[in-house]
Amino acid sequence: HGTSRINEKGHLEIGGCDTTELAKTYGTPLYVYDEALIREKCRAYNRAFQESGFSYQVAYASKAFLCMEMSRLAAEENMSLDVVSGGELYTALQAGFPAGRIHFHGNNKTEEELVMALEANIGCFVVDNFFELEVLHDLAQEREQKVNILLRVTPGVEAHTHEYITTGQDDSKFGFGVSSGQALQAVKHAVTKPYYNVLGIHSHIGSQIFETDGFVRAVEVLATFVDTVRSETGHTMPILNLGGGFGIRYTEGDTPLPAVQYIKEMTDAVREQFTQRNYPLPEIWIEPGRSIVGDAGTTLYTIGSIKDIPGIRKYVAVDGGMTDNIRPALYGAKYEAILANRANEESKEVVSIAGKCCESGDMLLWDIELPEAASRDLLAISCTGAYGYSMANNYNRIARPAVVFAKDGKAQVVVERETLEDLVQKDRIRASELV
Ligand code: LLP
Repeated sequence: HGTSRINEKGHLEIGGCDTTELAKTYGTPLYVYDEALIREKCRAYNRAFQESGFSYQVAYASKAFLCMEMSRLAAEENMSLDVVSGGELYTALQAGFPAGRIHFHGNNKTEEELVMALEANIGCFVVDNFFELEVLHDLAQEREQKVNILLRVTPGVEAHTHEYITTGQDDSKFGFGVSSGQALQAVKHAVTKPYYNVLGIHSHIGSQIFETDGFVRAVEVLATFVDTVRSETGHTMPILNLGGGFGIRYTEGDTPLPAVQYIKEMTDAVREQFTQRNYPLPEIWIEPGRSIVGDAGTTLYTIGSIKDIPGIRKYVAVDGGMTDNIRPALYGAKYEAILANRANEESKEVVSIAGKCCESGDMLLWDIELPEAASRDLLAISCTGAYGYSMANNYNRIARPAVVFAKDGKAQVVVERETLEDLVQKDRIRASELV
């Protein structure tokens, strides 16, 4: 997919770059992004909205993958940006991302983070809970600065996905429940606050969603809700944020829809539900993360030790693992892999890919078919662009890999590989222990 192909040498090529060359130049493990594919995904969402006739913003959910260059690219592709921490906000601002297009999420933003966002004059705060409703307003009032807010509500819709990543159900740490009445209470309170511009509501029903029915059901609940708000407060909400969660294809079993179809069915539902209630059509915002960067990313590993237990299993170990991709260990996430240096060879055996961390749960893939893998072969795991680097960690004091963007035969580092010095940089040996 994208610009990936197998070249004359039988090597996997991404963005016109031979992955065996990338591995030589930058080392492994290495995250390689197909830059053109990221851009194409951004454009597909923008096009789909242009066709819908709605006013819109597509906010890239930066939690999926963020570094300064990614912020720059997202800005260039006319995306808005969803951030959930001071760290994501700082990264975006450092890269010159236009603050007016930044939306700040999170269920427990600290005062420090809120002040930083106020100072930057970001476009919108997505207020999650009653505590934040007070704290943010106090800060805004102190500064005599009017702020745009959306209220995050949980519409009580359960998307069909992994339980750790569903978020729209009533029993959730996020947002104000619609069915409990807390959402209405929150809006009624918010509209009385002089330093708030209450622009609308936000709902995010989950992640890696393949069907549109969850979104359609959410739209129905949200339309009913804003209609109730209008009749009880006279306040109309000009913006409806429907969150992210659009699925991607990791393996054969995954059946996502094209971006344009999610948007079509979503916008049709909004048009129908709002028109039916004689409610002015809102501007629609969405927040895709995974579907922008997920399948644009590939991780390259060098195969090291191979342990064959006859009749039981063959463990093929790579030079990374749960430190650069925690998703298999955390969610049982599945991926596909190939030998990037022998990409046109037939599969010969079933093997399991182990990481190098000191625990049995550090497995990247179970039972995949490969040509007979040898030590020093290059393994490429595809679709690792979302929640791979962004969830990377230093377990076992393993340094995080570099990230490169590849396009038109050129590769450029956008995040340097961590060094051993980086790993001890924040460590302090107590002076008293030195004597
Ligand atoms: N908006 C909100 C409010 C969210 O909570 C999320 C994801 C998104 C947008 C973007 O969702 P996406 O389009 O990427 O599905 N670490 C997990 C995924 C956690 C998603 C959290 N929220 C994973 O690796 O699958």
